[in-house]
Amino acid sequence: MSSSVLYGILGLLACQAAAQADVITDDSYFYGDSPPFYPSPNATVSSNWAAAYEKARAFVGQLTLEEKVNLTGGVRQSENGCSGSIAAIPRVNFPGLCLSDAGNGIRSVDYATSWASGWSVGASFNRELAHKRAVGIASEFRKKGSNIALGPVVGPLGRVAENGRNWEGFSNDPYLCGALAYETVQGSQSVGVITSVKHFVAYEQETYRNPVGNVSSVSSNLDDKTMHELYLWPFQDAVHAGTGNIMCSYNQINGSWACQNSWAMNNLLKTELGFQGFVVSDWGGQHSGVASANAGLDMVMPTGSTYWGDNLTLAVTNGSVTAARVDDMATRIIAAWYQMGQDSSDYPAPGSGIPYDVSAPHEKVIGWDKSYKDIVYQGALEGHVLVKNANNALPLQSPQLISLYGYSAKTPDSFYVGNGEWNEGDYSLGENATYTAANSVEEGTGIAVNGTIISGGGSGANMPMYISSPFEALTARAQEDYTGLYWDFESTDPEVDPTSDACIVDVNAFASEGWDRPNLHDDYTDSIILNVAAKCANTIVVFQNAGARLVDTFIDHPNVTALIFAHVPGQDSGKALVSLLYGDENFSGKMPYSIPKNESDYAGLDAPSLPEGEFAYFPQSNFSEGVYIDYRAFDAKNITPRYEFGFGLSYTTFAFSGLNVALNGSVSTASYPTGQIVEGGQEDLWDVVATVTASITNTGSVKGAEVAQLYVGIPGGPVKQLRGFEKPVLEVNGTASLTFPLTRRDLSSWDTVAQKWELQQGSYPLYVGSSSRDLPLTGTLTIS
Ligand code: BGC
Repeated sequence: MSSSVLYGILGLLACQAAAQADVITDDSYFYGDSPPFYPSPNATVSSNWAAAYEKARAFVGQLTLEEKVNLTGGVRQSENGCSGSIAAIPRVNFPGLCLSDAGNGIRSVDYATSWASGWSVGASFNRELAHKRAVGIASEFRKKGSNIALGPVVGPLGRVAENGRNWEGFSNDPYLCGALAYETVQGSQSVGVITSVKHFVAYEQETYRNPVGNVSSVSSNLDDKTMHELYLWPFQDAVHAGTGNIMCSYNQINGSWACQNSWAMNNLLKTELGFQGFVVSDWGGQHSGVASANAGLDMVMPTGSTYWGDNLTLAVTNGSVTAARVDDMATRIIAAWYQMGQDSSDYPAPGSGIPYDVSAPHEKVIGWDKSYKDIVYQGALEGHVLVKNANNALPLQSPQLISLYGYSAKTPDSFYVGNGEWNEGDYSLGENATYTAANSVEEGTGIAVNGTIISGGGSGANMPMYISSPFEALTARAQEDYTGLYWDFESTDPEVDPTSDACIVDVNAFASEGWDRPNLHDDYTDSIILNVAAKCANTIVVFQNAGARLVDTFIDHPNVTALIFAHVPGQDSGKALVSLLYGDENFSGKMPYSIPKNESDYAGLDAPSLPEGEFAYFPQSNFSEGVYIDYRAFDAKNITPRYEFGFGLSYTTFAFSGLNVALNGSVSTASYPTGQIVEGGQEDLWDVVATVTASITNTGSVKGAEVAQLYVGIPGGPVKQLRGFEKPVLEVNGTASLTFPLTRRDLSSWDTVAQKWELQQGSYPLYVGSSSRDLPLTGTLTIS
């Protein structure tokens, strides 16, 4: 026997052994491993997409192999400022595609709005507002000639508190995140813009997100249960909402890059979730040609020419990639285009309103519209969370003199849209609050920045029409009321007139794509707060915060009477804050994550993983905590946080009563779903198995909205998990009834052996109230 034949037989045996090893027997199988899943499934067309696929198949049928390949790879161009472009195919009247950042509003253009960012949307716990915001944002994308909005962000979910991008997403609770992603996808796509829900999946740190020198991208190592119950969950909602695009992430998943991970793309997304659209790589996130094609990647950005382009054509000609795979890539892309009606003649030409260089002469294309005004303002408002209010410090009562401090109260010294990332560069505070992220991909700026924050930094930053800063809004209010206003935004130990009715300290916690924050509080900012508090009996602290900010260094100071997390409010920051401070508006935001007392409470999940030991060149991030992040972890370990998930004060009070739970007799409670796969998974996962009802009354003296929250204890899982929320607006003495539908998915846990969601028989404790730790109503749901 020749040696090559011998090696052939040995190879075959090895393959068979590997195939046998792929039989799933227990959960530990996935930990640190990424099972192969081939071939890449062609889209199995759901009824919602049938018409689009019919047109797409006919369209793709006319294309040459080269033309199909051209649809799959970005082209660099200088005609417009799209983040990525697919070239036109004039022969068949295809105008090309423009992909633009990002989820919080269109970036780096004039005539666009700075909306409240994802975290503020999370804090609002308001589905309707999230939907309206998405319609507004997407309308701007459409008017500007962008086909694909590169958002919303549901990954990072927020596993690591220092992550530089947590603010781009909604919440580290998968249920809340998924519910708001659902609305965002539906709202955006209702105006014809394709959403690119990103970053798929388990992308939980910026540090080593991409290879640096000899060091590879971090590998997020997680088990199958954690994948489904936490990180995949919001993507499932986005697919269920019909998203046309998903962006694969930079990191590796169990040792295999996300954009060439067949388990993630071919299995989870395209088989289990029945995803109808196409997968685009994050910019530069592709690391192979044939492997990424066969693993289910459909489009590569920003350029196809590195691994695909002519190489993909060659791979088809020599049989390394099937022609059917490239057909499926092209068909998925074109189907999404038809599905959103982008073939219509009234869809603006790709990139037509997005100048390559805004300082060069260009046509004026107006994205913003006055009809968005109230939504932008409401978004800023509902993203503010009042977490401390001692001695009725707020609302302010006819103050005579207010003193205003802190570097975040004022508008930045200059703003020009051409700078692109308005809040970076020479905008940092200098040595005291800046840092250099030695271990990060890019050098970082400070964790606190000079001037008020309207968004975080990087591709999720958005462009303000104007900035209503706290200082300007307070000045306008002082002029109206004829109130005195003193200020000092420079000193760390400012002079304070001790007769001031209130001293407001407005500071921030900045974060940006590209680097993780170096810590969760900084001495520089704390010293300003403590120095003012030492001289002013009524010190009100406001954080514009793009990251979790610990407060235990100052929060128990008797003169710190109030604390507000403003989150990332967008251009109406100051106006929203001042309306809330004076009680013209009521607080209704809730924490979409917890604030613990100490870093150590995070048990290692405060900071990103670094390369170490034998993995000096292959950094590993082991998600060994499973689903136990944020409140799930604090509950399990009996750690009392400073401010729990779901917490937020109001100027009024609410009372809950009358919890009732009713099983829906007409729906099966069999252990496993039996339905066919629709977008998002098996159809009956969305059957409403039970409905919880209760009542809420405004028992205080002013109008207000309350986020009523339902938590469920799924047997074998965390003691409670958010599974419902509603936000009624209530007049004084007003009562509303609350209805929380619980779907099969809401009550199930992922069975790693069956590879299905399992609805267990047994008792499910239910809790309703105003935060994850203030749950006056309890009950039990029994599934038998
Ligand atoms: C980011 C994406 C972004 C893309 C295009 C990447 O670095 O991770 O979120 O959409 O760039 O700008």
